[in-house]
Amino acid sequence: MSNIEQTLSIIKPDAVERNLENEIKENFKRNNFKIIKEKKIQLEKSEAEKFYKVHETKPFYNDLCTYLSSGPIVVMVLEKEAAVIENRKLMGSTDPKEAADGTLRKKYGISIDKNSVHGSDSLDNAKTEIDFFFRD
Ligand code: CMP
Repeated sequence: MSNIEQTLSIIKPDAVERNLENEIKENFKRNNFKIIKEKKIQLEKSEAEKFYKVHETKPFYNDLCTYLSSGPIVVMVLEKEAAVIENRKLMGSTDPKEAADGTLRKKYGISIDKNSVHGSDSLDNAKTEIDFFFRD
């Protein structure tokens, strides 16, 4: 049975700054993700706060929002069978130090903050996050 899903991916400022955009996109394509939509933008801090609202009680919330709005990011809608979990597998653990070999965060991440990519953590959040960036 087919279970094609869409998920939201963000190439974060640390990766865009190091010109890793194309290389990261190639990783997605090699792993059979289709990039359905994409755009390069820079968020206002208030927009980053809205995007990461689920983390608003966390001690790292303010720094996280400052960071996400610190430079250009690439936001993409990725499509694949079981895209949400498949993207999380490809990204690896949040902290690059703990991420498995071959994962994007292991290959490109610098620290838990500058971990190069974001991906939706559930199908419900994927819908909300896709709508956040691509509501036309
Ligand atoms: P991301 O998947 O974009 O979702 C929230 C982000 O918060 C996460 O990646 C990390 O980059 C960042 N973050 C910073 N500190 C922490 C922490 N202690 N635990 C989890 N996420 C953190």
